[in-house]
Amino acid sequence: MVDDIVLAAPLFAGLEPEASEALVATMKAIDVARGDTLFHEGEPGDRLYVVREGKIKLGRRSNDGRENLLAVLGPGEMFGELSLFDPGPRTATATVVADAVVLELGHGDLIKWLHDKPTVAQHLLQALARRLRRTNEALADLVFSDVPGRVAKALLDLSTRFGERVDEGIRVAHDLTQEELAQLVGASRETVNKALADFAARGWVRREGRAVVLLDVDRLERRAR
Ligand code: CMP
Repeated sequence: MVDDIVLAAPLFAGLEPEASEALVATMKAIDVARGDTLFHEGEPGDRLYVVREGKIKLGRRSNDGRENLLAVLGPGEMFGELSLFDPGPRTATATVVADAVVLELGHGDLIKWLHDKPTVAQHLLQALARRLRRTNEALADLVFSDVPGRVAKALLDLSTRFGERVDEGIRVAHDLTQEELAQLVGASRETVNKALADFAARGWVRREGRAVVLLDVDRLERRAR
C-alpha cells in the first residue's frame, strides 16, 4: 500500500492507482539524517527524489562561500529532476534539514514512464512551471521588497508546507537555524533577526527555537505584499 503523501507528488498526478503503485515499486526508499547531503551542486545527476517524511533544503554556494537557499521541501515534494530534463550538473546541493525518508527514482526509469504515460510528463511540466512562477516572484521580491516583507512572506510560505493549526494561530516547525532562515530570505542573519524580533514585539509571531507560531496571519500577509 502506497501512502497518500507520496502520491501527492506531481510524478503521480493523473496516474491510475495501480500505475502509481507500480511506479513506487520501482523506487528505493532511503533514510537520511539531519545534516546528510544527498548530492552536491555541480555533480552529475542520475536520479530524482520524492520526499516521504522530513525536510530537505536546496542551496547554492557562491565562490566566496556564502550560501543561498532556493527552497525547503517537505513531504510530497520532488527534486533532482532538472539534470534529467536539461542534462548537466546538479543545479543545487540537497541537504537534510530534519530526519527524512526519500524515495529515489533513476532518470532512466523515469524516461521509460514518460514514454508509456504521457500524462506524467504533462504534470511534471506543470510542476516546473509552478516552480518558475515562484522563482520569478522570489526574484522580484529580492528587488522590490524590503527584508521584513520577505521574512513575512517566507514564514507564510513555510506555513503552507509545515504549518499546524494551534489555538493561537499556526505553528510552523521549520527546523531551520537562524542562519538558514536568513539564507532563505536572502539577507543577513542580523537583519532577519531584527525583523523577527519586531514581528514578535508587535504580537504577530512568537519564536520557539526552530519553530515560529504565526499569531496574526492577516498582518503578516499585509506586510508580505
Ligand atoms: P537538479 O538540478 O537535478 O538538482 C538540484 C535540484 O534542486 C534541481 O534538480 C531541482 O529539482 C531543485 N531546484 C533547483 N532550482 C530550484 C528552485 N528555484 N526552486 C525549487 N527547487 C529547485
